[in-house]
Amino acid sequence: MSPPVRDGFTSTFGVLLATLGSAVGLGNIWKFPSLTGMNGGAGFLLVYLLATLLVGLPVMIVETMLGRAARADAISTFEQVAPRGQGGWQVIGWMGALSALLIMAFYSEVAGWVYAYVLKAMTGEIATTDPKAAGAAFGALVSDPVASLLWQWVVLGVTGGIIMLGVSKGIEAVTRRLMPLLFVLLLVLCARSLTLPGAAGPGLAFLFSPDLAKITPAVVLTALGLAFFKLSIGMGTMLTYGSYFRADQNIPATATRVMFADLSVSLLAGIAIFPAVFAFGFEPAAGPSLVFMTIPAVFASMPGGTAFMTIFFLLTAIASVGAILSLLEVPVAILSERFGCGRKRASLFTILAIAFFGMPAALSQSLTAGVNVFGMNAFDLYDFLSSDVMLPLGGILICLFVGWVYGLPRLQEQLGNHGSLQNDGLVRGVFFLVRYLTPLLIAVVLLHGLKVF
Ligand code: TRP
Repeated sequence: MSPPVRDGFTSTFGVLLATLGSAVGLGNIWKFPSLTGMNGGAGFLLVYLLATLLVGLPVMIVETMLGRAARADAISTFEQVAPRGQGGWQVIGWMGALSALLIMAFYSEVAGWVYAYVLKAMTGEIATTDPKAAGAAFGALVSDPVASLLWQWVVLGVTGGIIMLGVSKGIEAVTRRLMPLLFVLLLVLCARSLTLPGAAGPGLAFLFSPDLAKITPAVVLTALGLAFFKLSIGMGTMLTYGSYFRADQNIPATATRVMFADLSVSLLAGIAIFPAVFAFGFEPAAGPSLVFMTIPAVFASMPGGTAFMTIFFLLTAIASVGAILSLLEVPVAILSERFGCGRKRASLFTILAIAFFGMPAALSQSLTAGVNVFGMNAFDLYDFLSSDVMLPLGGILICLFVGWVYGLPRLQEQLGNHGSLQNDGLVRGVFFLVRYLTPLLIAVVLLHGLKVF
């Protein structure tokens, strides 16, 4: 029996863009600024950069490599590449499917806020530079149970529809063309934010002049979790995307480019936000609401603000679609390829599961406010469990698998594209990292951050 023909990316540049489409999303525009603000600014940024280089990049390279080597869904991958009798590694794929549901349960809610803000930007009701009014507008949205649920379902309906109809190629084409526009709009925002009176000095100092005393074990774990979240690694997204990579794709080069492009989008978002925070008197540690208050304030203080603001939230909504599709792809590929249940049913089942688990997250600031587990509401708990526990755990397992089971010769074959790339030194470097340093770093940060020791 010949293997089924799998869909794949058709050009090297297309691979880069699709991977970037998964990496760039609400993580850059929403999560990076809120976490940086809540964790003290520059020190957090520094740790995040180190985590991205020493942990994120090597994990991204080997995860993508395994995906391409096996060309299968996140669970079946390990049946293909693990030696006979070593079945346990499939747990990485199972954990990945669970992480995808957990992440989607809160990510879909944040995307819902962005959708809602597209409309609010159009009507001009959020165009204010006053922290009180901005906070009230955001508060009104998140404390309204009906609006919260409906917007989450709109997001799930739109993205589920895209996955079900199999039109994601078309959507990715659109996303790609619009992303440069988001980049330009961020540059405009940075320019306006930096030129607000009294903004540039404190804003840039907050972002780039680290106070090492603020770096606690919990801050380090949060930065590590963000590094995983940003690069879409540790749960099978890159296994699944890697399985669509071309045989002649230079994996380390692609991963490095995606990492730098992703970092620059996050940094631009930070530079657009923090100077304005200080100019208008917002609270840098405001958390998830930060972006929804400061970005409108920057737009409100420039000509044509209403139109630009609407376009900005629209582009952010579109950017979130690329990331969401890559999250949904993990359980959908598992259900349809491994359990043979058909793409439509797999998509429907996945969306319904997310709608179910997502409800407590959507309602965490209205109907279920005050219901806490481990001192966190459902929204924060899902985020914490996925980004700060399950993704790093997945990362450790992927590293250990490649470093101790898969082995250097096969890694050289795969990353060197069977001898056609001259990158042996680099491959050995990656191997050393994933065999020793990276898993050790993750383990120490995880155990320390969770106060296990
Ligand atoms: N990286 C995306 C963002 O920053 C989110 C995302 C997509 C993700 N796929 C993922 C996060 C897989 C973790 C794992 O918005």
